[in-house]
Amino acid sequence: MTAQKAQKRVFIRTYGCQMNVYDSDRMTDILRPLGYAVAPSPEQADLVVLNTCHIREHASEKVYSELGRLRDAKNERRAAGSDLTIAVAGCVAQAEGGEIAKRQPAVDIVVGPQAYHRLPQLLAEAERKAAILKAGKRLPGAGVLDTDFPTESKFDHMPDPQGVRAGSAFLSIQEGCDKFCTFCVVPYTRGAEYSRPAAAVLAEARQLVRAGAIEVTLLGQNVNAYHGEAADGSTWSLARLIREIADIEGVARIRYTTSHPRDMDDALIAAHGAVPQLMPYLHLPVQSGSDRILGEMNRQHGRDLFLGLVDRLRTARPDLALSSDFIVGFPGETDADFDDTMRLVDQVGFASAFSFKYSRRPGTPGSAMADQVPENVKVARLAALQALLGRQAHAFNLSKAGTTVPVLFAETGRRPGQLIGKTPWLQSVYAEGPQRLIGHIVETHLVAGHPNSLAGEIARVEEVAA
Ligand code: SAH
Ligand code: SF4
Ligand code: F3S
Repeated sequence: MTAQKAQKRVFIRTYGCQMNVYDSDRMTDILRPLGYAVAPSPEQADLVVLNTCHIREHASEKVYSELGRLRDAKNERRAAGSDLTIAVAGCVAQAEGGEIAKRQPAVDIVVGPQAYHRLPQLLAEAERKAAILKAGKRLPGAGVLDTDFPTESKFDHMPDPQGVRAGSAFLSIQEGCDKFCTFCVVPYTRGAEYSRPAAAVLAEARQLVRAGAIEVTLLGQNVNAYHGEAADGSTWSLARLIREIADIEGVARIRYTTSHPRDMDDALIAAHGAVPQLMPYLHLPVQSGSDRILGEMNRQHGRDLFLGLVDRLRTARPDLALSSDFIVGFPGETDADFDDTMRLVDQVGFASAFSFKYSRRPGTPGSAMADQVPENVKVARLAALQALLGRQAHAFNLSKAGTTVPVLFAETGRRPGQLIGKTPWLQSVYAEGPQRLIGHIVETHLVAGHPNSLAGEIARVEEVAA
């Protein structure tokens, strides 16, 4: 690498879901051979990438305020004789495309989630345009745009992944969605459902293990719809893939997210009872407990299917912890519908959950529905639901207090000597311990359960490899 090349630095800010976290890591992998090192802050970067989320209105609006700040930074740089390249990636890029550069002309590159393997070409093009402008010439249209859904797969055009953090890695196995829930932008921003070939996934899993991963989280917008082509021409389900990944030496923990209840098949339920590395935690979004609202949402299942799945999963793996996503205030949701949701939550008992007020997304069927629910009703329902879910999460944490469990330590805490790790049930544990434990699974005695975490004491530090 030449000295000049090594001077470039990139800062990627990631919004939204874990798929975006994975994509940001992959963009770093792609930019590394171009001489881009990772900058610790936007101030120290030559290139800032905002990897954006479009799921709710609030998520998209954050992007524009950040872009305003970056424009100011870019102007200051230019006044000082240097420059700042600004790229917008992710789901806002896909949904709004060229509108972004119109609304904020300081943006140099807009690249969708399926096209970011072309970043090197886009950067070269942006540099060429910047040079023309610098020479005082005019350009037709600002920015460089690539929001195609290319026929080639981005996965075939990327270097080996390096994104292992403290023993954990994300592995994207499936993308896109064909389900078209009436509230959701994902089918429009991520495109049609696509499963990566099984061999490519296994190769990447092995590479991640070589790079230090002991925990692999398989990702997809509809991860349990996975149906990847195997080398022998057959099709592998997610259950099959999990079993094969479990056979890779060094894989201690496997997780997957996000699942759809409709795609929870018998083999996957059985895997929860049969594969020791598959962690006893499942994020299974249900959105609502009302059959009528589930129908309006086009979720393609009712509350009984969900409750039946929960029973079967708990039969297969009695200590399984469940998590879910909920939307309150979907158009037409009555008090009775909302009560159905509260009753479902009561009946299941969730270890954790995410809950949101319905957000109208342009272009989705839900945004055009009559009977939009007033904001004050949404606020009240969300507060009631979150209070219930919060009590359940606290109760779940308390139920583990007094036990000793394996914790994968991931980072240091705010207090000196403090480490933060995860239990098999994805609870956060705070414990005192040496930094060398980060990236290791350590038996930890859980001494107290709090609303969002547990306090732990590490049993035998000296036995953990230095
Ligand atoms: N693929 C996943 C969800 C992806 S989006 C699934 O099928 O469940 C993550 C969560 O955001 C969703 O589960 C939903 O609860 C929430 N969400 C999506 N669109 C939303 C909207 N328009 N308003 C509020 N919440 C929304
Ligand atoms: Fe969105 Fe529904 Fe697809 Fe999930 S299944 S990504 S909520 S359309
Ligand atoms: Fe957001 Fe796109 Fe993920 S809209 S939730 S970043 S798939």
